[in-house]
Amino acid sequence: MASYDVIVIGAGPGGYVAAIRCAQLGLKTACVEGRETLGGTCLNVGCIPSKALLHASHQLHEAEHNFAKMGLKGKSPSVDWDQMKAYKDDVIGQNTKGIEFLFKKNKIDWLKGWGSIPAAGQVEVGDEIHEAKNIIIASGSEPSTLPGVEIDEEIVVSSTGALALKKIPKKLAVIGAGVIGLELGSVYARLGSEVEVIEFLDVITPGMDGEVQKNFQKLLKKQGLKFTMGAAVQKVETTKTKAKLTYKLRKDDSENTIDADVVLVATGRRPYVDGLGLEALGVEMTERGQIKTDSQWRTNIPGVFAIGDAIEGPMLAHKAEDEGMAAAEVIAGKHGHVNYDVIPGVIYTAPEVASVGLTEEAAKASGRNIKVGKFSFMGNGRAKAVFQGDGFVKIIADKDTDRVLGAHIIGPAAGDLIHEICVAMEFGASAEDIALTCHAHPTFSEAVREAALACGSGAIHM
Ligand code: NAI
Repeated sequence: MASYDVIVIGAGPGGYVAAIRCAQLGLKTACVEGRETLGGTCLNVGCIPSKALLHASHQLHEAEHNFAKMGLKGKSPSVDWDQMKAYKDDVIGQNTKGIEFLFKKNKIDWLKGWGSIPAAGQVEVGDEIHEAKNIIIASGSEPSTLPGVEIDEEIVVSSTGALALKKIPKKLAVIGAGVIGLELGSVYARLGSEVEVIEFLDVITPGMDGEVQKNFQKLLKKQGLKFTMGAAVQKVETTKTKAKLTYKLRKDDSENTIDADVVLVATGRRPYVDGLGLEALGVEMTERGQIKTDSQWRTNIPGVFAIGDAIEGPMLAHKAEDEGMAAAEVIAGKHGHVNYDVIPGVIYTAPEVASVGLTEEAAKASGRNIKVGKFSFMGNGRAKAVFQGDGFVKIIADKDTDRVLGAHIIGPAAGDLIHEICVAMEFGASAEDIALTCHAHPTFSEAVREAALACGSGAIHM
């Protein structure tokens, strides 16, 4: 038995970051992880591998659609799917090994196995019980399933199986037009699959700014994705090689079917808390199966904290990381804080989609007097030079105070551009503060400045 100041359960972005910060703050720290490699869903079967496939398939798209225009003539590359997967696995390996190195550097013990909490102050891993003054649960989430749809990870797949398909499907049906469905749907569309997305609601990416939803869907349609909206999936039946998906249209209750080689189920994720022993321990949960915490990530059991996808809030790696750092600070007796009003969200399609803060709809519903500044990437020289003029930057500001309330971007490098707005919002900046800041030319970020100018005296290049 070993004794620690902190044992973190789970080595995903929430857990490993919490462990590193605990160690940096001088706490004797261990992290329990049952996977063969560190990094959790994000590094092993989520964010990182999907970005590798998004990158590779985007390069193919560029070669097929834009190379010749730039005078780069010749045969387009063909897809070696096994090599593409090997590249993706290599990227995963580099990242997971990087975390192992950071654990060693920070003298964090990796307790290999699946952990449970038999009692406050104790973590059981395999046959051993370890003592911990503090426990941080960072056990993450798992794909949620649908009644009548059984995931076999070969024909009916979650995001995990979709990253390791044996071959590129001729027809891919995607259930759910959320982040996972659209990111992976666009990977396979670019690799040549016919992709049909079946979505329960009438809009894609629920919760995003309405104007962004509409424009984003238009762009995805242009890229060949087909959408069946307002459709509730009833069941998926499979043979050895095919799937038949049945859905009901909400508008008239009519039943329809789609045949596909692969069905991707992307209807959300749920907290993964199996086997932790939370019920026996008496940990309070929310109605949605999340671990209940206070504003300092404490559960109702003294010395037991929880962060990331296992608790309330958006299921995003960076939200988990921030909570991990903040919980570590709290345990070390310092001040830990997360500003939940400024958590960016990014969809890594091409073009990327990024948002932070209030949508136009939410800002209006809050009763505020608002103004909206918009700028199209068509007016941005750099974007046009690289065939990325689709999309826009939209900044929402308070009409009375000019304070930035939110921003929504579709366009090149949107996932990076959004952070200028995040910093501005953290500092309580006004749209004019951004507009008066010199932005280098020619950069995509000039579009952000132009949108800020459009909140006031007007954009220049529009
Ligand atoms: P999601 O919650 O983003 O979208 C699920 C979609 O499925 C919704 O549009 C919903 O209306 C639809 N749906 C639900 N039941 C349905 C049914 N029976 N028939 C048809 N449509 C149905 O969930 P998703 O995409 O699975 O992602 C899970 C989580 O992982 C999210 O919280 C997401 O934010 C996170 N994630 C984030 C990424 C990023 O930040 N880039 C990448 C991948 C995942």
